[in-house]
Amino acid sequence: MKEITKAVIPVAGFGTRLLPVTKSQPKEMLPIVDKPAVQYAVEEAVQSGMKDILFITGRGKRAIEDYFDYAIELEQELELKGKTELLESVKKVSEMVNIFYVRQKIAKGLGDAVHHAKGFVNEEPFGVILADDIIDSPEPCLHQMKELYQKFTGLMLAVMKIPLSSSNMYGIVDAKKISDRVYEVNSLIEKPEPIEAPSNLAIIGRYILTNNIFAALEGTNAGKGGEVQLTDAINKTLIKEKVYAYEFEGIRYDVGDKVGYIKANIALALKRKDFGKEIKEFIAKIIEEA
Ligand code: G1P
Repeated sequence: MKEITKAVIPVAGFGTRLLPVTKSQPKEMLPIVDKPAVQYAVEEAVQSGMKDILFITGRGKRAIEDYFDYAIELEQELELKGKTELLESVKKVSEMVNIFYVRQKIAKGLGDAVHHAKGFVNEEPFGVILADDIIDSPEPCLHQMKELYQKFTGLMLAVMKIPLSSSNMYGIVDAKKISDRVYEVNSLIEKPEPIEAPSNLAIIGRYILTNNIFAALEGTNAGKGGEVQLTDAINKTLIKEKVYAYEFEGIRYDVGDKVGYIKANIALALKRKDFGKEIKEFIAKIIEEA
């Protein structure tokens, strides 16, 4: 069994759902409490045993590269002032993991973005993390999936039950339950209207893919929204390989959406040992006064 040590994080999207704040800054750099959203994805990858990460970037995303690089002047300044704790937190970010970058010149969809990882992953199975989906769980979601991959070899998708009325926001699977939290997938459809949705099991942004995905992507035309959809390519790999859907343990926040973004900030701030209590008291107070 091949060990999974590579993860791909696509970060080329426009962040349309968060406009206007994303007009001139990448959505992945927006703070969730005190870290940019993308750092949660990187930390999950590292905690899941990933050694190399590939960011699929695009124009206007240079702040992400700078964030994971050294900040020499800032570090010197913090050192001079004896701010050791801050210095460590800043340095830690640039030393977490090996990071590689490739640019998607035209935003042609998630499938096209993942296609850019072909040379990076070579023959190995690999993880994909969509940074819009922050999953708060004791065991990192990708780690849960890696464990399961040892048992059910095939492609693996994280799924979550959703209200059917929001099926047109997700990839939806038609699948049969085969064990606790695990389903074997028969087919997948990207963002169907509720009436066409085969189930209420929605794909959430964590995948374990194999290199069969690249051949499938090469034969996949633009689909929903005029974009090359990863969901459509995974549907194509079904003739070669099994696909499993895994109902992960954890709470998912869609931080690419205004309400989800605010919820993530509140929930994760409340969990902080250093100021969670203060936030809780504040929320209770403003609710009482509202
Ligand atoms: C993407 C995928 C979709 C999946 C979703 C999860 O859509 O295409 O299948 O359900 O991520 O967040 P997006 O939200 O990027 O439009």
